[in-house]
Amino acid sequence: MSEMDFYVETLENLPAVINGSESMKERVASLVYDFMQLQHLYDSAIEVVKTYLNIIDSEFSMKFQRNPIHNIDSRLKSPQSIIGKLQKKGLPVSIEAAQKNLLDIAGIRVTCCYINDIYAVADMLCRRDDFTVIKQKDYIKKPKSSGYRSYHIIVNVPVYLSTAKTYAPVEIQIRTIAMDFWASLEHQLKYKTASAITPEISEELRNCADKIAETDIQMQDIFMKIHDID
Ligand code: GTP
Ligand code: MG
Repeated sequence: MSEMDFYVETLENLPAVINGSESMKERVASLVYDFMQLQHLYDSAIEVVKTYLNIIDSEFSMKFQRNPIHNIDSRLKSPQSIIGKLQKKGLPVSIEAAQKNLLDIAGIRVTCCYINDIYAVADMLCRRDDFTVIKQKDYIKKPKSSGYRSYHIIVNVPVYLSTAKTYAPVEIQIRTIAMDFWASLEHQLKYKTASAITPEISEELRNCADKIAETDIQMQDIFMKIHDID
């Protein structure tokens, strides 16, 4: 489906947002423009956080000759999935509802080398006085029942536009390379072959996550020994 067909279909299926005095063409143009503005704002918020993360990483590299961050990935939720998620949650399909209720429109995934690096990065994000932490979940200390481990933090970040200062939330998932390896494969397996995931398979996946977590701790210990840190 083309993007334009998608907007037309969305409007046709949403009698609540149809205003009788406007033509379909005007309504589509207005919806498209609203989404473009929303995407620009969240995309800019991603850039603000990414720039900060890159600065932290290069500062570490300059001071300590090592990079705590292995990789940074980002993604913007598409209009299709924003609308899909609002409908699934039984919320009104509007830009305002999306901004108020969906905190993962802008997403960043940071992979770190060691567990301690995750906490260092999270701490630096929390300490920026122009960022406001909205939500924080430590799935490393308290893994999900699936075995998933990661540190999630949602921060409201300022975006300076030409005529105004606006805020947008950004969801940041911070995990080690090893945690990311597990999460990526588990996600692929669950989404591509969901019907084959029996309780036994789930248990096996959880066991894999636990083994990986042990290895992460061991690698952290090796790092500490080599660098003579207690
Ligand atoms: P969402 O509505 O999905 O965003 O849920 P939520 O607000 O309760 O957030 P949660 O803290 O559960 O984390 C959501 C995100 O974390 C997901 O979109 C995934 O990227 C990731 N995640 C959470 N649980 C799992 C899991 O069991 N496996 C994998 N691979 N990823 C997970
Ligand atoms: Mg999500």
